[in-house]
Amino acid sequence: MEIAGQTAIVTGAASGLGLAVVRALVGQGAHVAALDLPGPALQGLAGDSVLPLACNVADGPAMEGAFRALTDWRGGARILVNCAGVLAPARVFRRARSADGSPGRATPRPLSDLRRAIDVNLTGTFNSIRLFAAALADGSGGDGPDCGVIVNTASVAAHEALSAQAGYGASKAGVAAMTLPLARELARFGIRVVAVAPGSFDTGVFADVPAHTQAQLIRDVPFPHRLGRPEEFARLVVEIIGNQMLNGAVLRLDGAVRMREPEAAT
Ligand SMILES: NC(=O)c1ccc[n+]([C@@H]2O[C@H](COP(=O)([O-])OP(=O)(O)OC[C@H]3O[C@@H](n4cnc5c(N)ncnc54)[C@H](O)[C@@H]3O)[C@@H](O)[C@H]2O)c1
Repeated sequence: MEIAGQTAIVTGAASGLGLAVVRALVGQGAHVAALDLPGPALQGLAGDSVLPLACNVADGPAMEGAFRALTDWRGGARILVNCAGVLAPARVFRRARSADGSPGRATPRPLSDLRRAIDVNLTGTFNSIRLFAAALADGSGGDGPDCGVIVNTASVAAHEALSAQAGYGASKAGVAAMTLPLARELARFGIRVVAVAPGSFDTGVFADVPAHTQAQLIRDVPFPHRLGRPEEFARLVVEIIGNQMLNGAVLRLDGAVRMREPEAAT
């Protein structure tokens, strides 16, 4: 698919990987609906080629409203890039120390912490896909052999999540597992579905990781021996959009890293 002249929707567009994708697509001549939670970073993207849409990806009716606004703006989109996500680390229980220093009772983690990762990362991804695909199947985006492209963001944590990442890893494994069945389901409409599984990239999500864990994650990348750059993610997204044979695949973008449990901080 040629990107110039297309309309795209990018979620998680105000920051990190999503923001790099917005810039790359606009640079190639696309119009982009930039969807993220409300805030100045999102509003700052407004321009001739960019429509900011303030919305929670996990909210069904709100996303329906956002897609209506997109239709009013450009008649629909043929490219969807899902980048909205949260790390939401959570151990399954906590054990507070008692006043005398002995281990206290274990308190199970509230379910709301698991639900947050699943809601945003997995349900949020499916939410935008259902609205995008239904609109395309109704012909609002156009037709032709390459009618639409969906790029989802999984993670290497889909396979190798670290401790306290059970919810995050499960949500990303869900995104990876959706890829093939969605590609099969949407093939007859000419819509391709591909997921990217990044390693460690230099964005807001990574900034929340403790410093000693960050240092180990970088040490563990065989080559190149550094964090990924958001522009490198965006370049792969551009290639996926343009390359019709890429479909139903989960592509690692990780410098050959295989995550291992961080050593304890000293
Ligand atoms: N940076 C990494 O190392 C890395 C590695 C693997 C996967 N990922 C995934 O890449 C994606 C992008 O993350 P990033 O690294 O750019 O982080 P980021 O924090 O810079 O960007 C994430 C964006 O998603 C938005 N967002 C969060 N919850 C939302 C919601 N409910 N509705 C709408 N928008 C929401 C945030 O506001 C933010 O702008 C995420 O899915 C993340 O899990 C990142």
